[in-house]
Amino acid sequence: MMSRTEAFLWLNLLLVLHVGAQFRRQQWPVPYRRYDYRPDVDPYCKALYPFCPTGDRDGQIPEMREWDVISVYRLQTPVWEFKYGDLLGKFHIMHDAIGFSSSEMGTNYTIEWYELFQLGNCTFPHIRPDVYPPFWCNQGAACFFEGIDDLHWSQNGTLEKIGEISGGQFNYLSQWIQDDNETGIYYETWTVLSDPSPNATVWFESYDCSQFVHRTYKKLTELGAELSSRSQTNYTKIYLYSGEPTYLGNDSAIFGQPALKNLAMDIRNFYHTFRPHQSIIDFAISLLEAYKKVTMEKSFYLYYNFEYWHLPMKPPYVQITYEEVPLP
Ligand SMILES: *[C@@H]1O[C@H](CO)[C@@H](O)[C@H](O)[C@H]1NC(C)=O
Ligand SMILES: *[C@@H]1O[C@H](CO)[C@@H](O)[C@H](O)[C@H]1NC(C)=O
Ligand SMILES: *[C@@H]1O[C@H](CO)[C@@H](O)[C@H](O)[C@H]1NC(C)=O
Ligand SMILES: *[C@@H]1O[C@H](CO)[C@@H](O)[C@H](O)[C@H]1NC(C)=O
Ligand SMILES: *[C@@H]1O[C@H](CO)[C@@H](O)[C@H](O)[C@H]1NC(C)=O
Ligand SMILES: *[C@@H]1O[C@H](CO)[C@@H](O)[C@H](O)[C@H]1NC(C)=O
Ligand SMILES: *[C@@H]1O[C@H](CO)[C@@H](O)[C@H](O)[C@H]1NC(C)=O
Repeated sequence: MMSRTEAFLWLNLLLVLHVGAQFRRQQWPVPYRRYDYRPDVDPYCKALYPFCPTGDRDGQIPEMREWDVISVYRLQTPVWEFKYGDLLGKFHIMHDAIGFSSSEMGTNYTIEWYELFQLGNCTFPHIRPDVYPPFWCNQGAACFFEGIDDLHWSQNGTLEKIGEISGGQFNYLSQWIQDDNETGIYYETWTVLSDPSPNATVWFESYDCSQFVHRTYKKLTELGAELSSRSQTNYTKIYLYSGEPTYLGNDSAIFGQPALKNLAMDIRNFYHTFRPHQSIIDFAISLLEAYKKVTMEKSFYLYYNFEYWHLPMKPPYVQITYEEVPLP
């Protein structure tokens, strides 16, 4: 028989091995993958509304004079507000952007990062009869254009000056924006957490318009800008809650192997519930369907970095919050 000390040592060894294996296996949150370049969009994906209609075709950002003084604006507007029983409470989905205005030239500009094919297409794929893996139209990109539509932002949202930078700093920023745009190519709606507490483990981070705004603010402070806001800076987050996720694989690993047929069918069936995504109302209905399905089956297939993960879902399953993220 094993003595107590021996048993204790074994237990410790097992723990060390277990923790070691965990450590090698996975880093949380899973890093959002950067790509060398942005691939062409598949012709199957057709935008109902053209992406960045008034932006420069090649995404050029004009160069400012070194000594110009550029004001920086925080822009926010509700996408929609919608009350649907008390299942998900009141949706409070906001769109965020950043404005700049040049004192030397008197011109102003808006930059925003958003979906090429709208939110629904970035959240739920298409299940096509003729294509085995679910088909995603999930690219997102930065759009830079001249003008700030004061009314659009200020009437029901926010238009607030939060700082000033030099033309030189602006030029650095615009190079950074173009690199960021080239390497961060897809939109991710969900943030996945272990639970709703402040100490929760973050399994996956979203990659959306507000994350772009946070990255840009961070870059601006790195470049020496000081940003401050008189009001609370709140942002929309769309959460899933789950136990530790399991990696499943990419399209060819799952859908190209007869041995994984059951998993492949399960993923197709999971996404089959959700309707085609024409309008924001369709998206709302799909969200509610997702909520019902997830509470019943306690299971979710997340697509992240063009790979599938299984999430063992747990209460409160899905939540939309509007919470503070302070300026850097
Ligand atoms: C979503 O993608 C489908 C398939 O390409 C497309 O028909 C539809 O217009 C897209 N929805 C929006 C709102 O762009
Ligand atoms: C970002 O990429 C998209 C898609 O290629 C392009 O339309 C847009 O002009 C680019 N934006 C910037 C600011 O480079
Ligand atoms: C941006 O420029 C337009 C046109 O000159 C002007 O009406 C608007 O007030 C400006 N907005 C800001 C925030 O500078
Ligand atoms: C602001 O909200 C009111 C009431 O909901 C609406 O009628 C109006 O069109 C909104 N304005 C803008 C610019 O979105
Ligand atoms: C979060 O973690 C801190 C430090 O580990 C601990 O003091 C605190 O009680 C935790 N809070 C919750 C809500 O678990
Ligand atoms: C899919 O994953 C396999 C490993 O499981 C890898 O060899 C392959 O390159 C991946 N395919 C793509 C398109 O990333
Ligand atoms: C903003 O976020 C804070 C904390 O995250 C919250 O207490 C507050 O109610 C939010 N404000 C609004 C208008 O929702």
